[in-house]
Amino acid sequence: MKEIEKLQRRLKDMVPAGVYEHSLRVQQRCVELASHYGVDTNSAAIAGLLHDVAKRHSADELIYLAEQDDLPITELVLTEPVAALHGVVGAAIIGREFGVTDREVLLAVQQHALGGEEMSALSKILYLADKTEAERTAPEIEAVRALCAQNLDEALVAAFDMMIRTKLNERSLILEQLVRSRNKAVLKLRRSD
Ligand SMILES: [Fe+2]
Ligand SMILES: [Fe+2]
Repeated sequence: MKEIEKLQRRLKDMVPAGVYEHSLRVQQRCVELASHYGVDTNSAAIAGLLHDVAKRHSADELIYLAEQDDLPITELVLTEPVAALHGVVGAAIIGREFGVTDREVLLAVQQHALGGEEMSALSKILYLADKTEAERTAPEIEAVRALCAQNLDEALVAAFDMMIRTKLNERSLILEQLVRSRNKAVLKLRRSD
């Protein structure tokens, strides 16, 4: 059995069915984007498949686990613990329980929910794959999907903007890391103009 199939079997027993199905779609989308941009498709498949492994935990468990790892738990983090913490906790689980040692894969999983100030091509691909997989819906999603085929950095800014606008429309709080990641991505685009 191929390595990725073994990982799929393990993941299936760990997360709710909806998360598992989403993970398979993100894996597929990651591979598509990785082949398009010349990134290692095996790393992309693993990152895509395992990115939401921490969704096996409740919000309270995520807070507990993050505290164990000395991650800062701010008031804002407590308003959206799953969004704020499942990426970082997920990377720790993948390292510890799945034996993944590839730093780029671990960092991509860490950054998939809110981005990061320094993102590798793999991190960008996972972020975009997660936000544009086949079953996702959002008013701007087709535009973001179209940009994914053209330019990774343009697509990344469009995806951050889409996520931030969704939060604004819901009158939700916006975690600082998402804003920092978006600003950094915009500055990078401006510098490359
Ligand atoms: Fe996620
Ligand atoms: Fe996801």
